[in-house]
Amino acid sequence: MTVKKIAVIGGGTMGSGIALTAAVHGIDAVVVDINEDQLARAKDYHAKQLARSVSKERMTQVGADSAAAKLSYVTAMADAADANWVVEAATENIDIKKSIFVQMYETFGKSVVLATNTSSISITELASVIPDAADRVIGMHFFNPVPVMKLVEVIKGEETSSETTASTLKLSEKMGKIPVPANDRAGFVSNRVLMPMINEAFHAWADGVAEPEDIDSIMKLGCAFPMGPLRLADYIGLDVCKDIMMVMYNGLDENPKYLPSAKLVKLVDQGYLGDKSGRGVYNYDKG
Ligand code: CAA
Repeated sequence: MTVKKIAVIGGGTMGSGIALTAAVHGIDAVVVDINEDQLARAKDYHAKQLARSVSKERMTQVGADSAAAKLSYVTAMADAADANWVVEAATENIDIKKSIFVQMYETFGKSVVLATNTSSISITELASVIPDAADRVIGMHFFNPVPVMKLVEVIKGEETSSETTASTLKLSEKMGKIPVPANDRAGFVSNRVLMPMINEAFHAWADGVAEPEDIDSIMKLGCAFPMGPLRLADYIGLDVCKDIMMVMYNGLDENPKYLPSAKLVKLVDQGYLGDKSGRGVYNYDKG
């Protein structure tokens, strides 16, 4: 099957990154979001990134114009119904995702793959709300920033067909990514490994082992991470980190090692969510 047009459900950081990556690789992409401000931000991000690619001579102006022409933005899912591939990239909340999956099932054609960019939620459980189409549901987990990060973690649910998996691998490669499989256990591989490390950095901070800047410097300089774990937590979103820990806690036998640290929970409760709110572990208002 040739993917001609992708509908990306959710115009946030991940959704807008997925749409841009598709367009740059020659695939039409429509961003669907009920929030017009979010769509405006996605459009602005696309314009800035394409202009940057031209100024860096990664792309010609003609190429950037062609990618821009492949992007569209709609508030109603029905207006994206001609897409022949869907990636859901909404908030990491199982009830919201389940209701979007029902809507996707009702909106798109009967052979369209219904992928999810979930970072931790069970694919089998999401597919359970649309049993007739469970063979077409798959996890297609991109990483932030999507245009830069090479990985797509591909997760099959219990009912996912081999055709759906093969198409997902092919599409990931067409989008310039390297697909790597993981099984359908909470957090998959990426967050099963990454999030406890981030969480431990919060514990280390709370225990007075070091201040955030020093924790991050130690992990950057000593372990060659591009960002330290606390800076990365701000970048991902502290609410997202907390939610992923809770998905793993609930999905992995309530093992207390997956409980989010009190320090992380407190910052989220205070509304300090990281880059997106201007303050998280670090205060970005002050630069
Ligand atoms: N969109 C597109 N391109 C972007 C970008 C974005 N949002 N952010 C950065 N880039 C590009 C920049 O344009 C730049 O390329 P050019 O200069 O050639 O144009 C390049 O990336 C490097 O960016 P910067 O020079 O601004 O900064 P940097 O060298 O510090 O790199 C970074 C920034 C790529 C984000 C780097 O710090 C990094 O790799 N950080 C770790 C990111 C990471 O771990 N991501 C995974 C998070 S986990 C996840 O996403 C999954 C989950 O489920 C939680």
